Amino acid sequence: MSPSTPAAWWRSAVVYQVYPRSFADGNGDGIGDIAGLRARLPYLAALGVDALWINPWYPSPMKDAGYDVADYRDIEPLFGTLAEAEALLGEAHALGLKLLLDIVPNHCSDQHPWFQQALPAAPGSVERARFIFRPGLGADGSRPPNDWQSVFGGPAWTRTRNADGQPGDWYLHLFAPEQPDLNWDNPEVAADFERTLRFWFDRGVDGFRIDVAHGLVKLPGLPDIGQRTVSEDLDENHPYWDVPGVHAIYRQWRTLADSYTPPRVFVAEAWINPAERLVRYVRPDELHTSFNFDFLVAPWQAPVLRAAIDNTLAAHASVGAPPTWVLGNHDIPRPVSRYARPQAGLTARWLDDLLPHPADFAVGLRRARAAALLTLALPGSCYIYQGEELGLAEVEDLPDAVLQDPMFEQTGRQSRGRDGCRVPLPWSGTQAPFGFSPDSVPPWLPQPAAWGQQTAEAQATQADSTLALYRAALQLRRTEPGMGDGGLQWLPAPADVLLFTRGNGLACMVNLGAAAQPLPAGAQLLLASGALAAGLLAPDTAAWLRLL
Ligand code: NOJ
Ligand code: CA
Repeated sequence: MSPSTPAAWWRSAVVYQVYPRSFADGNGDGIGDIAGLRARLPYLAALGVDALWINPWYPSPMKDAGYDVADYRDIEPLFGTLAEAEALLGEAHALGLKLLLDIVPNHCSDQHPWFQQALPAAPGSVERARFIFRPGLGADGSRPPNDWQSVFGGPAWTRTRNADGQPGDWYLHLFAPEQPDLNWDNPEVAADFERTLRFWFDRGVDGFRIDVAHGLVKLPGLPDIGQRTVSEDLDENHPYWDVPGVHAIYRQWRTLADSYTPPRVFVAEAWINPAERLVRYVRPDELHTSFNFDFLVAPWQAPVLRAAIDNTLAAHASVGAPPTWVLGNHDIPRPVSRYARPQAGLTARWLDDLLPHPADFAVGLRRARAAALLTLALPGSCYIYQGEELGLAEVEDLPDAVLQDPMFEQTGRQSRGRDGCRVPLPWSGTQAPFGFSPDSVPPWLPQPAAWGQQTAEAQATQADSTLALYRAALQLRRTEPGMGDGGLQWLPAPADVLLFTRGNGLACMVNLGAAAQPLPAGAQLLLASGALAAGLLAPDTAAWLRLL
């Protein structure tokens, strides 16, 4: 890159995740849609983010909230039309916002025409070769082809019936039975996804988040998983996560993205440990960025967070890619609720991990606000999941009858699933639906009554609100040279304090200890996540400082 070339936008972007079902409802059916999102674009521009990532908005039977795609090149009627999507894209661009979509290449919906053609087709047919069909084990084929389990619970295989009504082959679904895995060894599958990428790139879409990016290729022979865990923890010979052949797919995708002007970009959703394996996805000829889930799941403890930051930075530096930082998304309990729990040894991947532990939500909110300043100060790009800027907590007490996440039923109602972070946003007013839908329309998941105090409208005029904090931080991030892409330098600090500089005299200090801490000598306060008392940074508080 010559000195005059502007740095690529994605190396330092702040991306706001829009979960379209729960963002804003324009037509009054209780479900968020494109019309609602278009009406709220000025809010997002004023917030100060650079780009939006929209979760799947394609036609879908919604067995997994749109991650079961029936047609990759159209819009789900619940959300609107292709014309509305194109209008949204134009309006977002006019406001200076880039737009990323979500591509789901590991599996499609069982209602996708391909799977509908595969079911009645014969074993060994062209139609079945787009999926992973296998005969069962045992004399009558009544046992699944191997021991793989679905991420959502239960076996990863479902048996089909032949045209004559007799039990037939089984098909693989790493997620719900309604999400058959595609066969990426079949060139027809790759060709169709390239068509989909072009379809949206040709319309001006700036890039894609890639769902389950590490799952597309399975080990030949589909060997048993054995004693390995069903979760995404990895080892070298995992039969379906991070199988090396997956990288060839992304080299192809990168070539395609680079053929556009301006080049289009990708962010991988890949739950991979260790970081050295994760960053293989962001080598110079592969994807641009990848979510960094190590940092997300780290408890609120200075040494753990510092190690996660150092690890991430070192691994990404080894391939020249910028890291990303993310505190939550539509699959993870919200940060306020994670940080509200005692942190020592806490794994907080699912709501079920949190429920046994006592919660102090005031502490959780304080920490989430501090974490926001921490992440926005770290080198690279950042993701904000809708509602984080309002300080929303997970809704932990949704009644069984309203739960929609397939995890709930697939685990025999053992896991409460991910609905608690998907509750529709509170925009205004004092009663549900809080401006999400027109008055008195019940939203698709019920909102807590207490959200009346946390609406965007209420927070817009409160100087110390979480919304005000995000707006101020995002504005400073834009104007301060040295924020975004680059490196960091740790400065001496007590063991439970994180203190680092980004150059240009800008520093971030986070107090994770129990005692208030003095700011570094001569530091000028730019922004803090909580009030300072007698010049001291309180516990669970972060500050951005100018060091003189
Ligand atoms: C990851 C997505 O974020 C999640 O919501 C979905 O259930 C799975 N992938 C399967 O597509
Ligand atoms: Ca709607």
